[in-house]
Formats: sequence, C-alpha cells, structure tokens
Amino acid sequence: MSKFILGIESSCDDTSAAVVKDTKILANIIANQQVHKDYGGVVPELASRAHQQNIIPVIHQAITTANIAKNQLDGIAFTRGPGLLGSLLVGTSFAKTFALALGIPLIEVDHLKAHVLAHFIDTDGKSSPSRPDFPFLCLTVSGGHTQIVRVDDHFSFHVLGQTIDDAAGEAFDKAAKIMGLPYPGGPEIDKLAKQGNADAYRFPEPRINGLNYSFSGIKTSILYFIRDKLKKDPDFIQHHKHDLSASIQNTIIRILLQKLLLASQSTGIRRIALAGGVSANSGLREQLKQTAKDHHWEIYMPRIEYSTDNAAMIAIAGYYSFLDRAFAGLDTTPYARSRM
Ligand code: KG4
Ligand code: ZN
Repeated sequence: MSKFILGIESSCDDTSAAVVKDTKILANIIANQQVHKDYGGVVPELASRAHQQNIIPVIHQAITTANIAKNQLDGIAFTRGPGLLGSLLVGTSFAKTFALALGIPLIEVDHLKAHVLAHFIDTDGKSSPSRPDFPFLCLTVSGGHTQIVRVDDHFSFHVLGQTIDDAAGEAFDKAAKIMGLPYPGGPEIDKLAKQGNADAYRFPEPRINGLNYSFSGIKTSILYFIRDKLKKDPDFIQHHKHDLSASIQNTIIRILLQKLLLASQSTGIRRIALAGGVSANSGLREQLKQTAKDHHWEIYMPRIEYSTDNAAMIAIAGYYSFLDRAFAGLDTTPYARSRM
C-alpha cells in the first residue's frame, strides 16, 4: 500500500513542507525569507522568527495541495541537522507535536543526505536515466557544505573529501558581496556570467591534498584583485561585472570538477551525481556535461527546485527511513554540525 510522508525543512532560511506518495511528490511548498536581504546574509535569530511565522501556513498549504486529509499521513519527516539550531528547533518541535497528535511515526532526516536522496524523487520519466544505481559518487555543493560522497545504498554514505574551510556556495556569496551584488549572490553571479568571458581573469587555485577542498583563499584573492583595480578605475566592478562573474564562477567550477575527476579515477566509479544549491549553477551543469563526455561518466543532476533547499528531498529521505522502520524518539534534539 502507498505511504504518505510529510517532509519539513527548516535548517536555514527556507521554510518548506512537502508531501510524497511513496517516491512521487504531491506538493512541495517553499517560503523564502526576504528579511535577510538587507543584511547581506542570513541572520539566525530573524530566521527562527520567520520559520515560526511560516511553518503552519506552509504545512497547511502542502497538505491542501497534496489533496489529502492529514489523517492519511503515515509519517512525519523533519530535518534534524546540520543547520542553524534556532531554525532547526522550529521544524523539530512542530514535527514532534504533529506526529504525536496524529499518532504516527516521527522520522529524522540529515539535510546533506537528503540533498543526495533528491535523486530518488520520481521524475515521471521526464529525465532519463532518472535515478542512479549504487554505488555512485555525489558532489554536494551548498551554502554550508561541499563534499564528495560515495553512496552505496539509501543509508550508506562515505565522505571521501570535503571543504576544510568555506563551502563553494559561500565562495559564490562572498565574491558577490565584494562585487556589491544582493544576497544570495550565487544566482546573481550565474546570471551575469552568462554574458562574460570566463578566461578574462585568473584567480589562484588552492593546493590541497587528496579529495578535500578549500575556498577561503579565493575570497581573499578576489578581494585584493578588485581592491587594486578600483585604485585605477573606481567603476571597475560596474564596467567588468560580466567578465568578473564569469571568471570567478569558472575558477570555482574548475576546483570542484578537478577533485571530482580525481575521486572518480581513484574509486573507479563513473556514475556521478550533483546535489545542493550550487548544483543549480548553469556553468557547473554545462561543464559537468562536458567532463562527462570526456570521461564517459553517467551523470545525474537534480531538477532546479530539488537542488536548492526544499522539503521534497526531506520527504523522500523520510520515505526510505519509513520503509526501514528507522523512527526517531520524541526526545530527539537537532544538531548544528554535520555528522556524516
Ligand atoms: O542547498 P542550499 O539551498 O542551502 C544550503 O543548504 O546551504 O544552497 C544555497 C547556496 C547559496 O550559497 C547560493 O548562493 C547557492 O546555493 N546557489 C547558487 C546558485 N543557486 C543557488 N550558486 C551558484 N549558482 C546558482 N545558480
Ligand atoms: Zn541545503
């Protein structure tokens, strides 16, 4: 019999609720928080308050859109971490209360695993091949995390490499901030880069052993580069925003793909998936396609709405845990740092 799972995501600045019927998405509602725009980044306390405001309307809308009655739900899945503690507490508390009220299981979901499991969302045959066979490698690139993971099954994840400082999304956002672009800067750089020359400027790439990444140095080199240019031309950014964006984006993508290639070569795995907010980047998608052609990879890229934070991925991850009868206790508390 089909299972209906409600997924709740509140780890950062998006309040989201989704309903799945097995692996099919019936509703995926996301309320973005605009309050952070004026601050150039997410303000944790404002995020918690906005989640408090949004959570009930968002969940109500998800259940209404899914066109089910709440007593048809079989389980409540929620993001337990990693993320902002105050934000996670809102989703966690609501999930517990709702599960208790309905008398159904509570299911905890790791946000990073959920980004990967977004590949198992039913695509109605719209993308082919639709979901990766195991094992596959996943490059998860978001605002808070950058890692290469070997995925052996729905529950078995091995981190092969990860950032030792900033995440790739942070590199995009910080570079955008230096350029005076609005937050979050990743999508802004993506837009501007489309009309720029990716080889106009070259920024040094970090030398990090193995499959780990480092992105904090790029921010500093961009900062110094722009500072020097501004001395000669106070309107340098305005005059060169397309080339700057394309060159910054290209540097980040090159670093990401170099290590992914190394991971594929060292594991012999050629099934490669992309996940997380930065996987929405059009340049990264294009270059991954090219790398896949050159190295005979089978690649998997989530639909844009399942790349950035969303509850559909939480619901799908919850569905697999439900089948495994991996339920959470009502005394479960959120965690801020990654446990992978
Ligand atoms: O996965 P996500 O929505 O939230 C986290 O779990 O962090 O990722 C957000 C990050 C932000 O840094 C944002 O700038 C970046 O994803 N991002 C992009 C694009 N869309 C979102 N970066 C580059 N190009 C994009 N098109
Ligand atoms: Zn995320």
